[in-house]
Order: sequence, then structure tokens, then C-alpha cells
Amino acid sequence: MTTQQADPRTAPSPLPRWRSDLRLGTRIAVMRAGGLALALRGDAVARLMHRPWRLDPYPTYARVRADAAAEGGVARSRTGIRAVATHEACTAVLRDRRFGVRLADGRMPFDPTDDASTGGDPTDPEAALLEPIDLSLLGLDAPDHTRLRRLAQPTFAPRRLEQYRETARTVTGRLLDAAPRDEPFDLVSTLAAPLPISVISELLAIPDVDTPRFAAWGRVVGAALDGVRSVRHAHALSRATADLRLLFADLVERRRADPGDDVISQLVHALDEETLTLDELVSLAQLLLIAGFETTTNLVGNAVRALHSSGTWDDLVADPGLAASVIEETLRFDPPVQLTARFAHEDVELGGRTLRRDTGVLVLLASAGRDPAAHADPDRFDPRREQTTTHLAFSGGAHYCLGASLARMEGEVALEMLAQRLPRLRPSGRFVPRVATVLRGPRRFGVRAD
Ligand code: HEM
Repeated sequence: MTTQQADPRTAPSPLPRWRSDLRLGTRIAVMRAGGLALALRGDAVARLMHRPWRLDPYPTYARVRADAAAEGGVARSRTGIRAVATHEACTAVLRDRRFGVRLADGRMPFDPTDDASTGGDPTDPEAALLEPIDLSLLGLDAPDHTRLRRLAQPTFAPRRLEQYRETARTVTGRLLDAAPRDEPFDLVSTLAAPLPISVISELLAIPDVDTPRFAAWGRVVGAALDGVRSVRHAHALSRATADLRLLFADLVERRRADPGDDVISQLVHALDEETLTLDELVSLAQLLLIAGFETTTNLVGNAVRALHSSGTWDDLVADPGLAASVIEETLRFDPPVQLTARFAHEDVELGGRTLRRDTGVLVLLASAGRDPAAHADPDRFDPRREQTTTHLAFSGGAHYCLGASLARMEGEVALEMLAQRLPRLRPSGRFVPRVATVLRGPRRFGVRAD
């Protein structure tokens, strides 16, 4: 057998990094400028991606709901994207098997490496930098999605939840012991981030947890759900995903040599039985790690913020048993994951119009929570609200969040113990929001408890 090698005299030489960076920077800037121009001209969907509208997206969601109602149910944006924004329409799209997370032929949507500007050249560092991140389950349709989801599901069985609750209590107690009593501190780095990082690391049996490093990876990967923002972000993303792959490749070897009762050991078993590949295992583990803390961190931050801005923190202090209901109300009122997307796998009739095959539809989960047709007085945060309609904060249909019970439990433990241990907790200093559209929550949240 002979191996064909490219003739170095004729093979295209890779672009020097400064040139590919310049090209990449230009492409990103042009794309963002195009979106901003549409936002300035009043395109509601484009506004969701840009400041200042992104900082408080709820009035824009109301606009999209009105646009959608005028269009028969689906809002149309000049960006080429469609959007659904009411509880009913979002639920319908999420549950409809004619929609998927990929294009009808299985290709990734918005894959920039498909683009003519990189010429599909795999040696082009720009193409490598723009390669879409592998989001495992989140980026897969049936049958691969069904097969992988089945393998991950046992980790989230209810009997395991009680074991994780004990961990959450112990960790929260330790973190709150260390919280300053006489000066302001950052709620995110003190509690909201390290709590879910500890719980998910235990679930994955990751030794030597490096909380600040994990939090940094989470920020970079989480921001990429909106697409790559800059050349710096592209490089940070490529470093973070390489580091994550190394971490899990190493963990796979350890679990193979010394199996335990954890999810990675179960997945290694499936790997040996050839039910999944090593790449699939590593991507799934990455998803569990990042999804396991990026979102829950925001849930705790958004809950404390909403309690204070609505003047209901003292209600929780008077009755810490209210924590579970505060978490449900936060998930409706200001959810950590604001939106997702689906693609029509065939021509679909929706709201009296035909969506052509491969049309992308934004599903505005956070807008569904503010839909007056589903929730009475939806812009009021009411910790005692009777949730008559389930919010869509954990999505719906085939991709319904696997960690929903875990996230609820962690949020509940955090709020209950905050109210008991730091009853005078209040905002103090800066609330710095994340730079993101899909994920919503504080990057830093100054508070004090004296
Ligand atoms: C408040 C916290 C959380 C929120 C708001 C949240 C939200 C979501 C949403 C909206 C989706 C579906 C996205 C879509 O339909 O395209 C999802 C999927 C997922 N979530 Fe969560 N999540 C949270 C916490 C967690 C936790 C703690 C884990 C645990 C590891 C987790 C693991 C996953 C996984 C594995 C999926 C993919 C499911 C699939 O595609 O089949 N999530 N989550």
C-alpha cells in the first residue's frame, strides 16, 4: 500500500497566522456590523444580539411576540432568521419532530468552515479557528442523539439526586463560611460558580478540580453559543476546547484502569462495547461539565437579583422553605438559557405560512415565560406564584434538559442556605452582566451581608 503525500511544491502553503487572524477579524466585524445595522433599523431579532437591547431583552421579546402575531405566529427578521416567541408556538416547535438541531441532510447549520471564503482548505488556520464547537447531544439529531442520550440518562436518576443534595449542602456551607461578613464580595466567584462546579465535578469524578480554570473555560465556551465574537475569543475557544479534550482523554484512561460508579466509567464501558466512539465520549463529558455549571451559576445570580429588585428577599428570609418556588419563578422570569434554535427538516406549515426546508427558527424560551397568554401579570416576579403553565427554561421535546432536577436542587440549596446564613445579603457594588445573548446572568455580582 502506498501513502499519497502532497507535493510540497504544489500543496497550498498555510496562511501565516497574522493574515488569517486579520481575515477572521474582518469577517467577524463585517458580520457584526451587518447585524447591528439591522438592529438600528428596528429589526427586533437582530436587536437580541446587540447592546444596548441585549442588556434587557424583555421589551424586545414583547416586540417579537407582537411581530409574530401580526405575521400569523412566526416573526420574520431581515437576518433571514425566523423566530417564535409565545409559549404555545415555542412548545409546538420544540415538540415537532419535523424540526431538528441540524440541517435536513445532517450538516451543521452556520458551519463557517463550509464557507467559500476559506475555500474548504483544512490547513487554513482560519478554518480551524472557526470550526464549530462539538456540543454533543445539543448538536445531534436522532438516531445519534437518542443513542447518546440513553447512555447519559442513568447519571441523572432520581436516587442519585439525594446523594448530590448532600454534596451541595456541604459545599454551600463551606463556601458561605468563607464569605466575608464585613465587606462587599462577589456572589458569583464566592458561591454561584464554585457550588455547581463542585457538584458536577463530583458527578463526573474529576480529581484535582481547578475551580477558577473551569470557570474560565465555561465563560469562553458559554459565550461561543452566540458564535465567535472576536479573534481573541476564537483563540481562547480553541485553547479551552483543546484543554478540555486533554482533561477528559486523561480521565478516560484513569477510569479504564480503575473503574468506579461514575458516569465516565459507564461511558468507558460503552466505549469498550463500541456503543460510542472516543470522540463522542469526550464531547459528551465536556457538555456535561460545561452545561452542569454555566447555567446553574446564572440561576443563582438571577434569583438573588430578582428577589432584591422585586423587594421580596425578606420573604425568603422569613420562610427559607420558599426557595424551591423562588427557583421556579426565576426560571420563568429571567432564565439562564434565553433561546435555542431549530431547523425545518421538510417544508412545514406554521402559523398559516410555509417554512421552507432548512429554515432556521429561533425559539425564544425566555419570551415564552413572559407571554401574557400563558402567565398572568408576567412581568411581575412573584416568589409565591402558582405556576399554572410550565416555563420552557429547560426547553422541551427531545432535547429537554437532562440536568433539570439537579439544577433545581442546587438552586434551592443555595437560596435556602443564603437566606438562613446571610439574611442581610444585599446588592452592593457592580452587577456586571455576561457578554452573551443565549446565556443570561451576572459575570460579577457585588453584594454584602453585614
Ligand atoms: C438552571 C440550569 C439549567 C438550565 C436553565 C438548562 C437549560 C437547558 C436547555 C434550555 C437545554 C436544551 C437546549 C435545546 O433545546 O436546544 C438543555 C439541555 C441540556 N442540559 Fe441543561 N440546563 C441547566 C442545567 C443543567 C445541568 C446542571 C446539567 C447537568 C449536567 C445540564 C445538562 C444538559 C444536557 C446534557 C443537555 C442536552 C440534552 C439533549 O440535547 O438531549 N443542564 N439545558
